[in-house]
Amino acid sequence: MRKQASRHPSQIDRFFAGPGARGDQWRNLVELAEAWSDGRGGRNKVEAALDEMTATEEFHAYPGFELLTALREHVGQNDAHATASLARRITRAILTRSFRQNPGDWDAHEGDEAAAPDVLPPALGRSDAQRPYFEVLIVTGVPAARWPALAAEWRRLRRPLDCFVYEPVIVGSFEDAFCAAMLNPDFAAVIVHEGFSFRSRHDAPILRTLTAAVEQHEGAEASALNLAQVLKRVRPELDLYLVANGRVEDIAGSPKATALRRVFYAVEELLELHLAVLEGVQARYETPFFDNLKKYAQRPIGTFHALPIARGKSIFKSDWIRDMGEFYGPTLFLAESSATTGGLDSLLEPTGNIKKAQELAARAFGADHVFFVTNGTSTSNKMAVQALLAPGDIAIVDRNCHKSHHYGMVLAGAQPLYVEAFPMTEYSMYGAVPLRTIKQALLNLKADGRLHRAKMVDLTNCTFDGHIYNTRRVMEECLAIKPDLIFLWDEAWFGFARFSPFLRPRTAMGAANDIEAWLRDPKSVAKYEKQQAELGENPTDDALLNRRLIPDPRRVKLRVYQTNSTHKSMSALRQGSMLLVKDVEFHTVEAQFHEAVFTHASTSPNQQLIASLDVARRQMELEGYGLVHNAIEVALAIRQAIAAHPLISKYFQILGSDKMVPVQYRESGFIDYLDGKTNWALATRSMQDDEFCLDPTRMTLVCGTAGLDGTQFKGLLANRYNIQLNKTSRNSILLQSNINNTRSDVAHLIRVLVEISGEIDRRLEQGRANVRQAFDARVKSLMTDVPDLPNFSHFHDAFRADAGRRTNEGDIRSGFYAAYDAAHCEYIRLADPEIDRRLKEGPDLVSANFVIPYPPGFPIMVPGQVITRETIDFMRKLDVKEIHGYDAAEGLKLVHADLLAKPAGATVKRAA
Ligand SMILES: Cc1ncc(COP(=O)(O)O)c(C=O)c1O
Repeated sequence: MRKQASRHPSQIDRFFAGPGARGDQWRNLVELAEAWSDGRGGRNKVEAALDEMTATEEFHAYPGFELLTALREHVGQNDAHATASLARRITRAILTRSFRQNPGDWDAHEGDEAAAPDVLPPALGRSDAQRPYFEVLIVTGVPAARWPALAAEWRRLRRPLDCFVYEPVIVGSFEDAFCAAMLNPDFAAVIVHEGFSFRSRHDAPILRTLTAAVEQHEGAEASALNLAQVLKRVRPELDLYLVANGRVEDIAGSPKATALRRVFYAVEELLELHLAVLEGVQARYETPFFDNLKKYAQRPIGTFHALPIARGKSIFKSDWIRDMGEFYGPTLFLAESSATTGGLDSLLEPTGNIKKAQELAARAFGADHVFFVTNGTSTSNKMAVQALLAPGDIAIVDRNCHKSHHYGMVLAGAQPLYVEAFPMTEYSMYGAVPLRTIKQALLNLKADGRLHRAKMVDLTNCTFDGHIYNTRRVMEECLAIKPDLIFLWDEAWFGFARFSPFLRPRTAMGAANDIEAWLRDPKSVAKYEKQQAELGENPTDDALLNRRLIPDPRRVKLRVYQTNSTHKSMSALRQGSMLLVKDVEFHTVEAQFHEAVFTHASTSPNQQLIASLDVARRQMELEGYGLVHNAIEVALAIRQAIAAHPLISKYFQILGSDKMVPVQYRESGFIDYLDGKTNWALATRSMQDDEFCLDPTRMTLVCGTAGLDGTQFKGLLANRYNIQLNKTSRNSILLQSNINNTRSDVAHLIRVLVEISGEIDRRLEQGRANVRQAFDARVKSLMTDVPDLPNFSHFHDAFRADAGRRTNEGDIRSGFYAAYDAAHCEYIRLADPEIDRRLKEGPDLVSANFVIPYPPGFPIMVPGQVITRETIDFMRKLDVKEIHGYDAAEGLKLVHADLLAKPAGATVKRAA
């Protein structure tokens, strides 16, 4: 149970204390009021709790001014019973969200539901049960005393024809508007009237810490345009409307007005504004493909197409497979179709509603173009690599990236130049690739006169374990060395991050948009030239490595691609993925992209998958902010509960940023979200400047200290407690919170961890000395006797005929195809002393294929790679069962030494 109220108000988790913590605050109020009511507590505690809540409660439509006033009046009149009763009703309505449909919830007089008038209180009508609900923030200079009347005026605009229903929330200052937008996820639109003040009317520390960070970055100006820009930055999905008193034409023509959806003149009809708000939400609610599929499913269609499952007749009439129909319901089969039946668009060549849906996704994710992909990000990555790289092109690739990139290089005939992530040997995992390593690789290519061959930097953001790159810095510094580099960011896990202001700048598209703005800023050229003057004519590598390089804005061609497994972090069905494009040169590769789509996409893509991508986008645009907030809140709750629990923390811990990110990459001094000192300002600085930071939703839970290896613990959680998780390492598991998690999930996990810890505790206490010894030995073996992680060695010279002196790239494709002729391969078992002899005396052992142990899941061998002692030692120590590309009975598959002995290029034909 978290003690929210006792934590320092400026701590970062208070900011992420979203809906769950709000519910806690209300429950706490109920408890205090009940205690007061039955003589166990005093009135002062109720008053203090109400005071603490007031500032943030005003940012929500419910309970609203009337109910809060009524609550205060009950307290003022010393009526403990009425206070407790009203607090209980409000709390129930907030927790169940019933206030969105139930007019009685807004009534200050209990049981008076039927009398709910249509003006005050707000009284959403009964028909609103079906209409989606949202809230609109109204920023105004009108005195607070007039706000209830103003809100009533807005409510009178509601019409039965409206597709949605909303409640107004009124604030009177820049600071309150900012805090409200941050703290209330239900806003879909903001209406800014000119003439509001700057300072908040509250002096709550939580608000101060929030606004301080904004003032620092955006300036403290109470102009409507400035506020619009700040709001757009934190919540780009919100529709912003400005109501100006005069000069509307000037405002509408200002470059800052791009943040606005529309500008109104103050005296114009309020109804127009109301309609604009509804239309703005409708534009996000629209799901062109899904809407059309729903219509399609209603049509009486007879099929003579190769789609026996469509319409479900053969299923529902069958004695043998009817249960499938009953399980999935008839709609699935009514919606089964193909582009070639007519009426639906084609994923391979979209011109209709898929095209429209992709354009809406591009808007939502801040890209120029989006490709929907129905075979996972594995396919998105291969498509991007194929479309952007030609045979012989060099790509700087994290060796630890997902196998789809490596296979993509094989298919494209590109030459991977592998760069290494920093190792986290004690947890048998890798971090992310330091920028210095990437810059060094580029500088080495330059020194070899081969920089023109480098086309792409290909990295994983965030990594499996949650390391987030400073995407903007990586791109800017690389572009300073080669201004037309293409960046492929694999954000398989990180698609949701777009909808958090905290994480967005660290996404590929977030950073690309920031860089784009920087390139347009006239001051940027001067900054570049100043640095050039400091660096002088021929700067040394050290000089270039030791500072943050500024690219030349006149030469940069911004070319950024991002792939995300929409199904991993949003509401898309399995395999639903998107490939996002923000590339000024896209027109030069567009044809290649179509080829890549033709190569990889099925000609029978699944309609439900495409629809789910469309719907996932709709959801994120309308409620993504709150959902992501919730995922982060859940993660922080788990972290806090495990760290604070005396029994669980004896055996388990979740690694903080200090453990996951070496100190040299945390320049801000940030330690962790819950270290007790971290506030919003420090966290913002860390997010902005640090080389790496940690995705709070990805939690590495160390279980080796409980004597359990990752696979064992994963099995225990799954088989005994129905808790599923994603990844394991030798001594840890990875927990991941997402938009689907609730506080009940947290409670279940904590209860399970208490049970497991209790069992271990009892076993150790009640067992004999040898039980303790065995436990200690197991912990030592898991936590201390960990194998060193092998670095990528190098490609064999036979695959490096075309490579540079200072860099390790190689012709992976020829390595791969060398194994296609069985006569070119040999097998040696891992335990065979022949391996050790060959390592000592040669000839080189050269891998004929990818070998990917799972966990940890990165290729320890790629085709054409020379196998070293470190790799063999790692393999021999590895105690996992699943090693892709390795059959223990056959042994390591090697390219035959005879083949490699021949002069390079003679026998191992370049496959490109
Ligand atoms: C970093 C990364 N990229 C790509 C993928 C593949 O994504 P998908 O499962 O959507 O094909 C994964 C899968 O785990 C991954 O971890």
